Amino acid sequence: MPARPRAVVAVALAPWLLDQLAGCELTVLPDGRSDAAAFRSAVSEADGLLVSSNVPVDAPVLARAPRLRVISSMSVGLDHIDLDAASRRGILVTITPVLSDAVADLTMALMTMLARRIPQAMRAVTDGAWHEVPLGGDLAGKVLLLVGFGRIGQAVAARALAARMRVRCVDSRPDVARLAGVDRVGTLAEGLAEADVVSLHVDLNAATRHLIGRRELTLMKPTAFLVNTARGAVLDQAALTDALIAGQIAGAALDVLEDEPPRPDDPLLRAPNVVVVPHIGSATTETRQAMAQCAVDNLLLGLRPGQRPVVAP
Ligand code: DGY
Repeated sequence: MPARPRAVVAVALAPWLLDQLAGCELTVLPDGRSDAAAFRSAVSEADGLLVSSNVPVDAPVLARAPRLRVISSMSVGLDHIDLDAASRRGILVTITPVLSDAVADLTMALMTMLARRIPQAMRAVTDGAWHEVPLGGDLAGKVLLLVGFGRIGQAVAARALAARMRVRCVDSRPDVARLAGVDRVGTLAEGLAEADVVSLHVDLNAATRHLIGRRELTLMKPTAFLVNTARGAVLDQAALTDALIAGQIAGAALDVLEDEPPRPDDPLLRAPNVVVVPHIGSATTETRQAMAQCAVDNLLLGLRPGQRPVVAP
């Protein structure tokens, strides 16, 4: 009888999902990030890993895992995994692309918070200033630039079109989808100069690290808002802090930061007109359940000889 494959699950999974992995010899580390030492030692025997974006699978981890065949990541972003090292070893890396609606909903909410000055309005209520809230602005008629037009960018576009925004996108991939009503701009610089709202939806990799830096922020209108629900390091956070303090742009809403969680004394947290939420893009019950199921399915398919997970980047 062939030996059962060994898998390390470094994410908290519901009991019924762990049951689905009963054919594997399992090591379960429900909080892979805080169990980093245990994770590093557990991978040495593993054929498969199930991780979240909080669990780095870097070159030293991969070097300790000679048997590894599949890394099932419960995320769409893969910047926590050394993809080059994995690909050199022929290790399959899979994602869970079932969170676009949840992230798009949050993106629209963040955009609306900035445009309608919701944080200021909420403060006015607790400060006894009910009648003193400054006017916000409409989203309808405003130009939204989507930087990255993959699954999430497209889900945001559908919502923004319904809100009667004028939607533009920029994406370096030649085969990127087209959506009626969304115009592709020639260059990022051109899009930034025209946009009332800029929303980031690219993966973090060497080409997109600090894609929005000091120069790009100077191209934006002083009335424009920036929303980031992608990865913190797509944006140069120090440059953004300076731009907000200088009034170079009108506000920013961030679900992701370069350091998560941020240092309590991070000046960005006290910059004017900034909204920060703690990486909750996919954090709904339905979406997290779907992601967990997809990650389990991918792990099982990746471990079965001759089968390929349906979903692989
Ligand atoms: C993702 O799937 O990449 C989300 O950001 C969660 O990490």
